Amino acid sequence: MPTVLIIGAGPRVGLACAEIFTNANFQVATASRTQRLDPKYRHYPVDVSKPGTLAALFEQVSSDIGIPSVVIFNAAMNQATPPDNPFANDLDTVHEIMDVNAVSVYVAAKEAVKGFEKLGAEGLGPAGGTFIFTGNGLNHTASPSLMAFGMAKSAASHLIQHLALVAYLDKPYKFYYADERHEDGVPMWFDLNGDAHADAYYELAADPKQRAWYYTFVRGKGYAQFPRVETSFPPSS
Ligand SMILES: NC(=O)c1ccc[n+]([C@@H]2O[C@H](COP(=O)([O-])OP(=O)(O)OC[C@H]3O[C@@H](n4cnc5c(N)ncnc54)[C@H](OP(=O)(O)O)[C@@H]3O)[C@@H](O)[C@H]2O)c1
Repeated sequence: MPTVLIIGAGPRVGLACAEIFTNANFQVATASRTQRLDPKYRHYPVDVSKPGTLAALFEQVSSDIGIPSVVIFNAAMNQATPPDNPFANDLDTVHEIMDVNAVSVYVAAKEAVKGFEKLGAEGLGPAGGTFIFTGNGLNHTASPSLMAFGMAKSAASHLIQHLALVAYLDKPYKFYYADERHEDGVPMWFDLNGDAHADAYYELAADPKQRAWYYTFVRGKGYAQFPRVETSFPPSS
């Protein structure tokens, strides 16, 4: 049975992904600071604000249930600032935002690829290896109060772009920065849908081909390309 590791497994995207991959006969490992899902989903404690601890998570999951052929990174951390003071966060907070949303993604992708190499073509199976990062529009758009969060999502976005388009062209590995949108392309903000993510993520994991690395998608429709928007504002502003 193949293994999926879901890092940042909460009640929305994490739970929906755990359900869909379980139904597809995957062994499911969930990871977060606190176990929030039904204990039927095997849980591993991890704090991604400490990127140095992620290698141990991959080792533990690999030895307990198997090397993951699918890795989903869904944890996130944001500390909004007053819109007119983008530098309000202290340096420790900025470091933490970068560690959670970017540096740990780097380590997780590195460990995922290490696992894909160990599994080899035979162990990965026809679908190959898949690494999916839950993003948002902040890699392309500037929004009030979210400068540091956008810096970190942009860094993770570049990591995914590099891995998908440059580093592993000759390998059956796929890398995605996933960004759910409303039908008109407007960011989801607080309306993020767990099932829409699970449907998209399972489809990406099952497809042997690398699709668009910046995977903007709409619930019930799948991939949808939208023009780049330079600024966006939350619904209340
Ligand atoms: N497309 C869009 O417009 C849009 C809109 C909103 C959100 N998003 C993205 O969606 C993702 C969040 O999805 P969601 O709704 O599933 O969130 P969620 O329900 O809050 O789940 C995220 C999980 O991450 C875990 N987590 C947070 N900090 C962590 C840490 N330091 N170490 C380990 N785990 C940690 C949390 O569990 P613990 O607290 O137990 O650790 C939480 O259960 C984020 O990447 C966010 O940027 C996108």
